[in-house]
Amino acid sequence: MVFIGVGGSIEEKINPELILHQGERVQINLINGEGAEHDLVIEFYGARSNRVIGKGAGATVSFLADKVGTFSYFCSVAGHREAGMQGKVTVEPGPRAAVRQIAPEISRDPADLPPPIHARAPQIVRVDLTTVELEGSLDDKTSYQFWTFGGKVPGPFVRARVGDTLEVHLRNDSTSILAHSVDFHGAIGPGGGSQFTQTNPGEETAFSFKAENPGLFVYHCATPSIAQHVANGMYGLLLVEPEGGLPEVDREFYIMQGELYTTKPFGSQGRQEMDYDKLISERPEYFLFNGAVGALAKEHPLRAHLDETIRIFFGVGGPNFSSAFHVIGQTFDRVKLDGATEPLIGAQTVSVPPGDAAILELKMKSGGRYGLVDHALSRIERGLEGALIVDGVRNDALMHEGVAGPVRARGNLQPQPPQFNRGQRH
Ligand code: CU
Ligand code: CU
Repeated sequence: MVFIGVGGSIEEKINPELILHQGERVQINLINGEGAEHDLVIEFYGARSNRVIGKGAGATVSFLADKVGTFSYFCSVAGHREAGMQGKVTVEPGPRAAVRQIAPEISRDPADLPPPIHARAPQIVRVDLTTVELEGSLDDKTSYQFWTFGGKVPGPFVRARVGDTLEVHLRNDSTSILAHSVDFHGAIGPGGGSQFTQTNPGEETAFSFKAENPGLFVYHCATPSIAQHVANGMYGLLLVEPEGGLPEVDREFYIMQGELYTTKPFGSQGRQEMDYDKLISERPEYFLFNGAVGALAKEHPLRAHLDETIRIFFGVGGPNFSSAFHVIGQTFDRVKLDGATEPLIGAQTVSVPPGDAAILELKMKSGGRYGLVDHALSRIERGLEGALIVDGVRNDALMHEGVAGPVRARGNLQPQPPQFNRGQRH
């Protein structure tokens, strides 16, 4: 009987040594690989999982690794430790060193988008897109052969106004192996432009379309197998501003969600490869904001200041999974779904299907770090995690730790009568 590592540097190792760093909050997931009863205990930290009984059952151990040293973990079911179910946890001093990435960064900075157009007459807007196939950083010590518009995921943010004519030039880089194309959801006509832009490596094509309707529209590669081109990173957004532009905000951001289908499980190290069978049967290993694991939490968190208004252009490339986009700790003030003319006022979670997009506006009323998630929350464990960092003080009048007393004393709230009694139903 043994413990077997799953993912990362412990993948398939027997009773792997778990290397932690002082101050880290750790969660160990235990999955039962057979039908007997087991658990996982780290006595030194007083950390103990529930027992797992059925095959596939899961339990977790969580603790704060605040003491440096080497400690044992083991299964506390009688006889199991002696039968081989034990290993070591080593807590090293100081923070974890920054991990060197093994390939160039693929993730587009969410602040990388052109400024608002404001008021101007309709005109011809030239859009240059280059399709590039390149190995990029998917996670710490993990790379992937992405297919992109412009070498980043998502592709460049395209901005126009209603009534403009977009003249799209698609150049397929000479280093490409495959043909690529582009379908603009904001274009009217069969194929959205893809029939004019099937482009071989080293060649260039062009087409023009009129931006008839204002809204936020996905564009993506539409060369068969389309799902594969989209999964590999070939998607972006076109904003067609209404006449006079959108209302002014302090900051704008650009985020797109997609999923990746790899042969090896999520968290594996080294070069990941596409798994066509998983793609066709819709079993992704990774869920990503802007193309890489945790990119918007680590390299590129969204940054704003207290009392600023922000606008997020959020789209889903997919190819297959919808997003329930949510900011942890704040609701949206206004939401505009793709081509809708009237915004929704107030929303907590916004559902965006693949090939769709939404304009999300919120005013930041309290300082701190807000998580960005898909509220299908299992996907956090598969790479889908972002952050919005708001510089400024926390607004204790809106939320604070403990009983309502201290705020009431400052006169911000009326005293509330007790509302809940134990056992009472509401
Ligand atoms: Cu393509
Ligand atoms: Cu489409």
